[in-house]
Amino acid sequence: MGGFLVTGSASGMGEQVANRLRADGHEVIGVDVADGADVVADLATREGRSAAILAIRERSGGVLDGAVMAAGVGAIRGRERLTVEVNVLGATALLEALRPQLAAADKAKVVVFGSNSTTSTPFVPRRVVSLLERGETERAARWIGRLGALSAPVAYAASKLAVSRWVRRAAVTREWAGAGIRMNLIAPGPVLTPLLRAQLASGSGRHVRSYPVPALEYGTPERLADWVMTMLSPAADFMVGSVVTVDGGTEALLRPTAWPARLPVRGVPRMLRLLREAPRRGQVADYSDI
Ligand code: NAI
Repeated sequence: MGGFLVTGSASGMGEQVANRLRADGHEVIGVDVADGADVVADLATREGRSAAILAIRERSGGVLDGAVMAAGVGAIRGRERLTVEVNVLGATALLEALRPQLAAADKAKVVVFGSNSTTSTPFVPRRVVSLLERGETERAARWIGRLGALSAPVAYAASKLAVSRWVRRAAVTREWAGAGIRMNLIAPGPVLTPLLRAQLASGSGRHVRSYPVPALEYGTPERLADWVMTMLSPAADFMVGSVVTVDGGTEALLRPTAWPARLPVRGVPRMLRLLREAPRRGQVADYSDI
């Protein structure tokens, strides 16, 4: 059977990508909490995620050609727990459970929505990110709750940092890249969707508006979908664990030297260990025919 999973398919960028895939003749399994999706499920709860996984497995017939994890909740005060549940576990729990279906396809492509808020939001406690990386959303939300006015932007940035790190760590392993799956991140800046409009109208609207955008315009779901479609195409056959930033220049303006960054001397021992372990981890290609 095959086909593509798209979460957050009822609105914004997820909806745009689902429409494009369908227009190109692909089967799409759209998942959203909103009515009208192929699979209506609340990715903020364990039960909702389990129900979604079962339904996707059944509809896919055991094979997924790709997955776009676009379901997300923006930085809105009072919705911090929801934000971390959907933005982190709404992507990672589904991908972990559906990895066999992705591995069953020929070079399946996965695109996870990160954000440029990962690298441009100040005062994100390390502890919150590491709790989220371990999937401890309840404890992370308690920490975030103590941050007062910063809680909404921190919840959002920390959730996107955690999911981005999960993607980059998992993408290169034998279970993902080694099994033929190409998993990458897209990191948009402000894109005019219902999520951004709600955020601009909320208490954190001032924070969002304060960020300079050198392109002097916000992104659109159509242009972002162009990038996602490329990341789902054979153009991404050699793309693994990459972060594609599409943000009108905010990141480059604020952190011009943060990336690419030279390898610091203290990073050398870890790098040597990874080089030594690469063959055992199945991370060395067979170049014998060159
Ligand atoms: P959107 O609000 O238009 O669409 C998000 C979709 O996710 C909605 O259909 C919503 O119903 C669904 N969703 C939310 N909570 C859910 C839940 N509990 N269970 C299932 N589905 C749920 O948002 P947009 O802007 O298209 O966002 C797509 C992704 O891009 C999100 O992950 C967002 O964090 C990310 N992003 C958006 C930016 C923007 O400026 N719009 C900037 C950077 C990243």
